[in-house]
Amino acid sequence: MGLFKKTELKNDFSYLGENDIYLDGACQSLRPEPVIETLEKYYKEHNSCGERVKYKWGRITDEKVNQAREKVLEYLKLKKKDYFVSFTLNTTYGLNLILSQFDAKKAKIKYIVTSDIEHNSPFLSSISFAKKHGLKRKVIERNSDGSLNLKDIPKNSLVVVNAASNIDGRTLKNIKEVIKHVHDNNGFIIIDAAQAMAHSKEILEKTDPDAICFSAHKMYAPSLGGIIMRKDFVKYIDTSFIGGGMVDDVDLETYLLSSDNPDHLYTKFESGLQAWGEIIALGTAIDWLEKMPKSKKQLLIENEEKIFNFFRENGVVGDIDRKKADRDNFNKKLHLLNHEPTSTMSFYVDGLDSHLLGGALAEEGIMTRTGYFCVHYYLDHKMHFPPLVRISLGYQTTSEQVDKLLKELEKVL
Ligand SMILES: Cc1ncc(COP(=O)(O)O)c(C=O)c1O
Repeated sequence: MGLFKKTELKNDFSYLGENDIYLDGACQSLRPEPVIETLEKYYKEHNSCGERVKYKWGRITDEKVNQAREKVLEYLKLKKKDYFVSFTLNTTYGLNLILSQFDAKKAKIKYIVTSDIEHNSPFLSSISFAKKHGLKRKVIERNSDGSLNLKDIPKNSLVVVNAASNIDGRTLKNIKEVIKHVHDNNGFIIIDAAQAMAHSKEILEKTDPDAICFSAHKMYAPSLGGIIMRKDFVKYIDTSFIGGGMVDDVDLETYLLSSDNPDHLYTKFESGLQAWGEIIALGTAIDWLEKMPKSKKQLLIENEEKIFNFFRENGVVGDIDRKKADRDNFNKKLHLLNHEPTSTMSFYVDGLDSHLLGGALAEEGIMTRTGYFCVHYYLDHKMHFPPLVRISLGYQTTSEQVDKLLKELEKVL
């Protein structure tokens, strides 16, 4: 028997080979068949530019793109009267679009704040922001449960932090309190939701940050980014990244921004032709996620727990905080950084190069990520971890695949 049970997969990933064990969804999810079909349908049945053309194909595209914008807001239970959605390339691009055009003076910002466990995406863009505006940058420590200490966030801060980590999947547990604290202290907050959108989106529901940036390719959708922005935040964006699709009229030296029309705020970040097919297919991915059967969600949890328990029995868990991890267990070779099971788990084995281990797993069809996953500051420079192996599970992961992974890890031990 192959490693897939067709009934478990519901054929959504039936294109995978029998022994393809894809455990790198934190980098880029696999795309289920319905998402691929939507993309194909766009190319074959209504290939057209959105927002510009009057022929039938264009009307179909416009309608579906608008639906995708609405679905993103509904997915996070955010209100259309408060937020709008623009599409970009990815989370990194979205964050940079916001930060590079943010009017710090108008917003009376004195600090840019981020946390120590951030991906390079907010980490680097916050460095660049501080330099550009001559502002102080504060890197605050994240607690092992993912929360932030409110007292660490100064007044008049622009805060950029993730809702879920790409090291160990821990979430910003006190997100609502953090947002309230920032707002009560004349600040603003942008959430990096790259890792939260697929498996931890509940943390973002009904919150009210100023902006959320995400990558559709980490939520079973095609390669695409998104910015969700509060309508009353847009006044701090001083548009400089500009081109076709963003203006209603252009004279020799002047232009009229389409985003001056409150119904067209989304054009603020959409310069040039957009990835219409990908946007529409994001709508399909959201439908697919929303209709995910309970049994599939349960299977994901069981798979996460099985892996976590394996590490607990055979090594040390919670090693992300090396000072606090159980010292009695330090003779054990296997170190899992996670404090709790999540769909993203990172580990290392004493005396064994993670890249070699990743290569050995790959020989068995097991695809993991190795290295520092763009979290160089925290993992390498702050905590001095060796390069790691990251396992990231998805809805395509079967229990047989997890068993096979654990069998291979047992061999290593
Ligand atoms: C937490 C987090 N933030 C930001 C990013 C950047 O995403 P992208 O490369 O799609 O811009 C990633 C990518 O892995 C991530 O995990």
